[in-house]
Amino acid sequence: MKRQLVKELLRAHIERDDPAFRKAALQLVSAESAAGHTRAAEELRELLTRAASPTQKGRTGLIVDIAQPRGDLAELLEGSHRSERFKDIVLCDDTAQVLERIVHENRQRSSLQGWGVQPRRKLLFFGPPGCGKTLAASVLAGELGMPLMTVRFDALFSRFLGATANHLRLIFQEMPKRPGVYFFDEFDAVAKKRGDQQDVGEMRRIVTSFLQLIDSDKSPSLLIAATNHVDLLDHAVFRRFDASVAFNKPNQKQLVALLKLKLARFRVDPRVITKIAKRYEGISYADATRSCEDAIRSMALDRRVQLTEADLLDSFGKIAAVQERQPAPRS
Ligand SMILES: Nc1ncnc2c1ncn2[C@@H]1O[C@H](COP(=O)(O)OP(=O)(O)O)[C@@H](O)[C@H]1O
Ligand SMILES: [Mg+2]
Repeated sequence: MKRQLVKELLRAHIERDDPAFRKAALQLVSAESAAGHTRAAEELRELLTRAASPTQKGRTGLIVDIAQPRGDLAELLEGSHRSERFKDIVLCDDTAQVLERIVHENRQRSSLQGWGVQPRRKLLFFGPPGCGKTLAASVLAGELGMPLMTVRFDALFSRFLGATANHLRLIFQEMPKRPGVYFFDEFDAVAKKRGDQQDVGEMRRIVTSFLQLIDSDKSPSLLIAATNHVDLLDHAVFRRFDASVAFNKPNQKQLVALLKLKLARFRVDPRVITKIAKRYEGISYADATRSCEDAIRSMALDRRVQLTEADLLDSFGKIAAVQERQPAPRS
């Protein structure tokens, strides 16, 4: 298979057949990725991306956007290459261990398959908003050198339910062809719709076919479904996944770790960090991140280069106050 691809690459190059060259190159990336050679796949992908960069474009005439699908799929899937790694996310020990292990399993796919087992690739992420589900999907994509393929739920659920089933099939047909991390965010949208009065029967059929598609998927891609409302999902849904992974709000220790991560560029007294983490325990990672950014903005607008305790207390105070005025999210 690989020898054929290399032959095709050479032929296309010699004949200056750019579309064929691009196709063969993409297949080669997919083949490496599918074999679990993520490092090699990443290197090839980088080369291709460089070939597509504006400076190179004029010379080779080769334009490659290997993450973004075309045609009907372009509306359903948003593809991107991710630079996030484990060092960019703060997690509780259990969650970190599960995710690191899953990355390890997928890197060792060939050797697992040699023993007749598969890496776990169908994951359910659950937990309150702003606790890193989307970020973790990016981290897995970044670590595995695979594109993150985010499913656009608004496009998926067209007004015509018949089209929704077709959309789903299109996405699942893409998974073996384009190895990636397929991210179904707000997965509970499916479950929620199930309760709607209109088209109940039709929606049930879609959910059933969705679950069957998940079941029968044997691609090298990862499938991640994320939900803030785990209570809306029934057992039939959980059974489909190889692992359910919890994302929780940070405790004090995790908040300290997040602050250190987000404020690494500044010399902030560790006592200040501890004080903030103590005072604002219960805040989400996303709100804490936003507060840090807001504090940095205040500093920059004042043309200072030192981030002060007052900057931080002020921004955390404001964001926490807004949160208190809002009704608690269902989770
Ligand atoms: N566990 C985390 N570690 C580090 N940063 C986080 C974490 N969770 C959230 N963030 C920050 O908040 C932003 C939004 O979080 P997101 O991953 O979209 O949360 P969710 O998908 O659970 O709603 C992220 O882009 C990141 O900047
Ligand atoms: Mg999210």
